[in-house]
Amino acid sequence: MKRNILVLGGTGKTGRRIAEKLTAQGHHVRIGSRGATPSFDWHHPAGWPAVLEGMEKVYITYQPDLAVPGAKEAIAALTRVAREKGVQQLVLLSGKGETEAEQCEQIVLGSGIESTIIRASWFNQNFSESFFLEPILQGVVALPKADSKAPYVDANDLADAAVAVLTGEGHGGKIYELTGPRLLSFREVTAEIAQATGRELTFIPITLPEYVEGMRQQGLPEDLIWLMEYLFTEVLANPKNQVVTGDIEKILGRKPKDFADFARETAASGIWDAVAAE
Ligand SMILES: NC(=O)c1ccc[n+]([C@@H]2O[C@H](COP(=O)([O-])OP(=O)(O)OC[C@H]3O[C@@H](n4cnc5c(N)ncnc54)[C@H](OP(=O)(O)O)[C@@H]3O)[C@@H](O)[C@H]2O)c1
Repeated sequence: MKRNILVLGGTGKTGRRIAEKLTAQGHHVRIGSRGATPSFDWHHPAGWPAVLEGMEKVYITYQPDLAVPGAKEAIAALTRVAREKGVQQLVLLSGKGETEAEQCEQIVLGSGIESTIIRASWFNQNFSESFFLEPILQGVVALPKADSKAPYVDANDLADAAVAVLTGEGHGGKIYELTGPRLLSFREVTAEIAQATGRELTFIPITLPEYVEGMRQQGLPEDLIWLMEYLFTEVLANPKNQVVTGDIEKILGRKPKDFADFARETAASGIWDAVAAE
């Protein structure tokens, strides 16, 4: 049965992939984005009813992170509008090991709408489409918590799992913890990318205060600096997050992608060549 599905953050790392997969299956997908018509902006709730009109299911990604002040109120307000508009299913993308995000998860699970939480560990694509791409291109990766390990998950696996939840049965009320198959430190990630690209990448371990100071010198906004500091301390260094789960296999019946395969495919795509080509 073809469904009307709203993908919030539908131009982002996970949403773009989910929207493409749902569209390929013949579902009617509305992209939630500030540039779409009707436009969706977390800072302009007055526009939300028009975006949710006629939608049966919603994939929710919050920006920039469910841990930031104001997220709980925004998620509660969105679920109210979704209920008023007759939405039948919500799938929330959440972060592993974030206390504030867990409060948002409870708001969604208690919304009265069938809901599923996808709690993800850090994405492989942070190194190819997001904040860790630039250092890779520059050839020097200077990061704190050099040896803290994370079970990086691939955004394509996450998207497959989200699509399975949005289009399948029996996922209501569940909290899935999505991870990749292997724990890796920043030092190890850098070595894997160096091997896949054949480039020389230097890894420099630094302290968190040094990293924060570097972001300040680049003129990054204070709220983003706060978030990065939070993610490095509460999420990356949290032993609860340093666990590989079997939830991707449970949902999809296949193993998640290993970082080495992601690195090989991404190297072949040329994304990591930019500086070498200059
Ligand atoms: N990166 C990770 O490792 C990781 C791990 C676990 C969980 N998460 C969570 O994943 C979520 C982000 O998902 P993602 O990585 O798929 O997205 P993303 O790549 O960060 O993309 C951002 C998306 O959000 C939209 N957006 C930005 N500002 C917006 C605003 N003010 N109002 C409405 N939409 C806005 C953008 O659309 P337009 O610019 O077109 O408006 C775009 O579609 C966050 O909640 C994050 O905490 C991330």
